[in-house]
Amino acid sequence: MDLPQNIDAVQEMLGAQGYVCDRALATVVFLALKLGRPLFLEGEAGVGKTEIAKALAAGLNRRLIRLQCYEGLDASSAVYEWNFPAQMVAIRTAEAAGGSDRKALQEELFSGDYLIRRPLLEAMEPDPLGPPVLLIDELDRTDEPFEAFLLEALSDFQVTIPEIGTIKAPEPPIVILTSNRTREVHDALKRRCLYHWVDYPDFEREVEILHARAPEAAETLSREIVAFVQQLRTEDLFKKPGVAETIDWAKCLLALDVINLSPEVIGDTVGAILKYQDDIQKLQGSEAKRILDQARASLEPA
Ligand SMILES: Nc1ncnc2c1ncn2[C@@H]1O[C@H](COP(=O)(O)OP(=O)(O)OP(=O)(O)O)[C@@H](O)[C@H]1O
Ligand SMILES: [Mg+2]
Repeated sequence: MDLPQNIDAVQEMLGAQGYVCDRALATVVFLALKLGRPLFLEGEAGVGKTEIAKALAAGLNRRLIRLQCYEGLDASSAVYEWNFPAQMVAIRTAEAAGGSDRKALQEELFSGDYLIRRPLLEAMEPDPLGPPVLLIDELDRTDEPFEAFLLEALSDFQVTIPEIGTIKAPEPPIVILTSNRTREVHDALKRRCLYHWVDYPDFEREVEILHARAPEAAETLSREIVAFVQQLRTEDLFKKPGVAETIDWAKCLLALDVINLSPEVIGDTVGAILKYQDDIQKLQGSEAKRILDQARASLEPA
């Protein structure tokens, strides 16, 4: 599959994967593909950052390789490790067989057979489908030394394994990095990338997303759900609901055969949209009704 030739083609390709993408995001995706630059996406939780890498890989028919970041992630978990237990077994077996060719054994032990490929190495190996999509997810969870290491890996897309040699990607992978901004990612890394802040979608776009992800929901209910969630996001909450929550909530309401929102229904299903007790508490009493009334008012034609 060829890379999309323009911004519209990007929107169309992602749309075909059920990913609803606004013009600004489509533009930066197009440029990242065209210029071969990593794309750095920041934004609140559940706004579709991870999903875009999945949609892109599916749309381009490329492999998706995911490096999930976490505190303490180090190069060996990100690039490669030697399969130590398998090496031990091979040594024992060679000993038992009375093998004496130490050099051959050593070469075998440090060959590809005993190499455990981790995401960064996998992303650099040739793929018949073309360069894969490498998703480096939730980068803000790692620490700075790893970030520095990553910076280097992203600059030349090659890995040196002392026992084997240097492995270099024939073509650089398509790299998407995401962050929830629990900490600021270093400037040096950001400078390498194109940057986009993924915001909550506006009303019409969120309705469109709901159509794509929960097509069973009727038009009126979808619009009420989105209006309510959007209104809820303007409230002072510890954790605002993302698009993921909107979709989840719609599915819950469908499972309960709800046709229209009511304060009671909202109270019963609030766990699908708010995940903190303090926030849930704020929807008690007349609050759900007040927000629902505001949401309904916003739906009325001006
Ligand atoms: N623009 C969109 N089009 C279609 N689906 C979307 C869109 N945005 C979000 N979604 C849906 O919302 C869900 C959550 O998205 P995703 O996991 O990508 O969020 P995220 O930004 O990576 O969140 P987190 O920061 O929590 O990892 C996805 O399963 C996807 O179905
Ligand atoms: Mg994510």
